[in-house]
Amino acid sequence: MKLSVQSVLLSLALAYCSSATILPRWGKTLEMNSCKGEASGAAYFMTNEPTGNYIIASDIGSDGKLNPRRAVYTSGLGGHANNGGGGDGTISQGAVAVNAASKLLAAVNPGSHTISVFSFDSSNPTDLRLVGAPIASGGEFPTSVSFSKDGKMLCALNGGEVNGIRCFQVSSNSISPLSSTQRSLNLNQTTPETGPPGSVSQIFVAPDGMNASDPGYLAVWDIDSSNSTSPTLSKDFRRISAPSGGQNLFGLVPVKGQQALAVADPAVGYNIIDLSGQNRSASYAVDGQMAICWVAYSEKTGNYYFIDAGADRVTEVAVDGSLKGSTVNNHAVGNNTGPLDPSVATIDGTDYLYVLAAASTEVSVMKLNGAGQTKNVQKLDIIGPASFVGLPVNATNLQGMATYTK
Ligand SMILES: *[C@@H]1O[C@H](CO)[C@@H](O)[C@H](O)[C@H]1NC(C)=O
Ligand SMILES: *[C@@H]1O[C@H](CO)[C@@H](O)[C@H](O)[C@H]1NC(C)=O
Ligand SMILES: *[C@@H]1O[C@H](CO)[C@@H](O)[C@H](O)[C@H]1NC(C)=O
Ligand SMILES: *[C@@H]1O[C@H](CO)[C@@H](O)[C@H](O)[C@H]1NC(C)=O
Ligand SMILES: *[C@@H]1O[C@H](CO)[C@@H](O)[C@H](O)[C@H]1NC(C)=O
Ligand SMILES: *[C@@H]1O[C@H](CO)[C@@H](O)[C@H](O)[C@H]1NC(C)=O
Repeated sequence: MKLSVQSVLLSLALAYCSSATILPRWGKTLEMNSCKGEASGAAYFMTNEPTGNYIIASDIGSDGKLNPRRAVYTSGLGGHANNGGGGDGTISQGAVAVNAASKLLAAVNPGSHTISVFSFDSSNPTDLRLVGAPIASGGEFPTSVSFSKDGKMLCALNGGEVNGIRCFQVSSNSISPLSSTQRSLNLNQTTPETGPPGSVSQIFVAPDGMNASDPGYLAVWDIDSSNSTSPTLSKDFRRISAPSGGQNLFGLVPVKGQQALAVADPAVGYNIIDLSGQNRSASYAVDGQMAICWVAYSEKTGNYYFIDAGADRVTEVAVDGSLKGSTVNNHAVGNNTGPLDPSVATIDGTDYLYVLAAASTEVSVMKLNGAGQTKNVQKLDIIGPASFVGLPVNATNLQGMATYTK
């Protein structure tokens, strides 16, 4: 039987990345700004509050800048990992994911062990409608989600005492677990999750045809999608270790046009992991790096943007045709901004980088004018619009960043 082999990969980090008052769990959408301006798309992150998790959805203007529109209740609870009381409460990349093809958004609810899926229209992408009810994540303390390219399958990563992955069939009106996709990692973990050392970092459903998380590794399950209504995952995962010098695999993105991954590594900088069998994997140290845990790719500049929560900066990296990485630029996000999850969106032919600056409760918007030419264009305050609608926000809980453009 010919198999269409996709893969699910996830990275496990062993690393060092860096009030909730009791409020009613309002089951409603909180309008932050009723002025309907023109929008080129939307950006989303979550409050991850233990009293109730909300997605804050902002319009993206034609200049790339954000205008917060509404906070939408996930009907689930946020949760904070045992990570020494620091930020990055889910110690992960991918707490919120968007698929443009299916126009669906997914978010983890670590405190209630569920996943919430929302549908939206391209004409009004901040208007999120919950699909069904939050669904059991297949384990405890889910921290990361990823859609397949066509947006019909969603996979979730659980980092708690019951850890592992589960995938779901999703559409704008239903979500259901796929029976042969529940797989365990058998990690000796706790609920909430304890880390970063020894914790899971990200799940990523690799594009069709891609070959595929000692201390840090990638766990790779092959997906047999020959039965398209019921894809199944291989029983066991393949383990791909960090290249020599690399230690703590964290957030990842595919390398454009290659069978390879660019993987953040808060112990050294980043790793390029070659999946083509050509043995070109390598670990790269970044001068002055403190906690590079997240990464995003820009189609327009062709470069990779690694986010450093400790050094408050973005390290822009070029990867050449032989998979050699080199630092192009270090761009300061701002002192004590504690940048976490990134997302790149293309607006009128220009890429913008959206980074959740959790420590300063802001979203940092950067215009990518070209390779090496990153410019801060906005620091969006989160506390103001949140207090306007009485929504609790805590810098240590805020998580996730995903964008949608038409
Ligand atoms: C924010 O959350 C932390 C725990 O993660 C807690 O110690 C702190 O009191 C909270 N701050 C506010 C303002 O609620
Ligand atoms: C699991 O971790 C706990 C806490 O570190 C430790 O006490 C226990 O021995 C571990 N169990 C196994 C089976 O490794
Ligand atoms: C595909 O999977 C579904 C659900 O398990 C099953 O009902 C169906 O018979 C399968 N189809 C084929 C061709 O194996
Ligand atoms: C997939 O990986 C295997 C083993 O590393 C390698 O032999 C093969 O060429 C790879 N396939 C592709 C399409 O890159
Ligand atoms: C890969 O290359 C490194 C040096 O670049 C070498 O030490 C190692 O043995 C090679 N591994 C394989 C499987 O060829
Ligand atoms: C950030 O901190 C550094 C070192 O303390 C200082 O030199 C620099 O002026 C600060 N930058 C801003 C924008 O405050």
